Amino acid sequence: MPNDAVPRLIQADLQAVESLIAERLSSEVPLIREVAAYLVGGGGKRLRPALVLLASGACGYRGPARLEIAAVVEFIHTATLLHDDVVDESSLRRGRATANARFGNAASVLVGDFIYSRAFQMMVGVRDLRVLEILADATNVIAEGEVMQLLGTRNPDLTEAEYLRVVRSKTAKLFEASARLGAVLAGAAREVEEALAAYGMHLGTAFQLIDDVLDYSGEREAIGKNLGDDLAEGKPTLPLIHALAHAGAADRALLREAIEQGSLERLPEVMRVLQSCRSLEHARQRASEAAACARDALSPLGDSAFRESLIDFAAFSVGRSA
Ligand code: IPE
Ligand code: IPE
Ligand code: MG
Ligand code: MG
Repeated sequence: MPNDAVPRLIQADLQAVESLIAERLSSEVPLIREVAAYLVGGGGKRLRPALVLLASGACGYRGPARLEIAAVVEFIHTATLLHDDVVDESSLRRGRATANARFGNAASVLVGDFIYSRAFQMMVGVRDLRVLEILADATNVIAEGEVMQLLGTRNPDLTEAEYLRVVRSKTAKLFEASARLGAVLAGAAREVEEALAAYGMHLGTAFQLIDDVLDYSGEREAIGKNLGDDLAEGKPTLPLIHALAHAGAADRALLREAIEQGSLERLPEVMRVLQSCRSLEHARQRASEAAACARDALSPLGDSAFRESLIDFAAFSVGRSA
């Protein structure tokens, strides 16, 4: 998480997770060390580890497996990013050249596989079948989400429901698993586990909706990624889907063409249509609603500083500019 947003409660734990990440990325193959250290060293908000730690804290758990699992979810995230940047042909991530731009697609894909499988080695070490089940399912659903997204690229007829399904799969599922795992490690009651899982799912949805807004309206320096990546890939995200439903015939035709073309050529015109339809505001509003659902899901949890931090986390996901 950005420094000023890191709850004091988990600051020391996050540092321990950082050391664990560096330790667990060891390999005798120099290229693996180089590519992994390059991406991990580029920063990143470490939101998913924070979620494991806050959720387990909210359930009163302080065992060592929380650090291992926090590192595991960051590894799964890191591996997906390596693959995602190849698929999206992105050139900037965490403020520097993507691993694919720097080391090539083959190295990115293969090191992504190494990090995935390292994550599985680590989770086996926790010796808990439920933990394995949750992470295996989440990883599988993320892959499904990325494939569904691939099928939807350059398709201006993608529906909002189809888009939301992709968001839940590619992004929200790992947030859901992270929060759920906090409860599972703690041996919390099923009601609490489901509450945290629902919280994570809504939070992850809000988070991706804002990511999709920032892809058009963010600051390159702040988000550490290039603007317009989604349009360049012909990805119909919620802002475009909203504008397609509200623009006049001429603008609609323009949007359809821009999506089918999948290039940045039309970005200025697309921005004008998004502005006239207030589509970015609409997507932000939807993200706020998802964050409110996340907050509401926490009601079965007892009061604690951790629960307060989870509530702050939901607000951060929507208000963020990075
Ligand atoms: C990027 O996730 C991928 C999305 C789900 C939008 P983050 O924004 O959490 O990436 P880092 O880890 O902070 O770089
Ligand atoms: C999130 O989607 C990707 C994953 C969950 C791996 P994006 O493609 O929008 O993520 P960014 O914008 O590249 O970080
Ligand atoms: Mg991407
Ligand atoms: Mg994005």
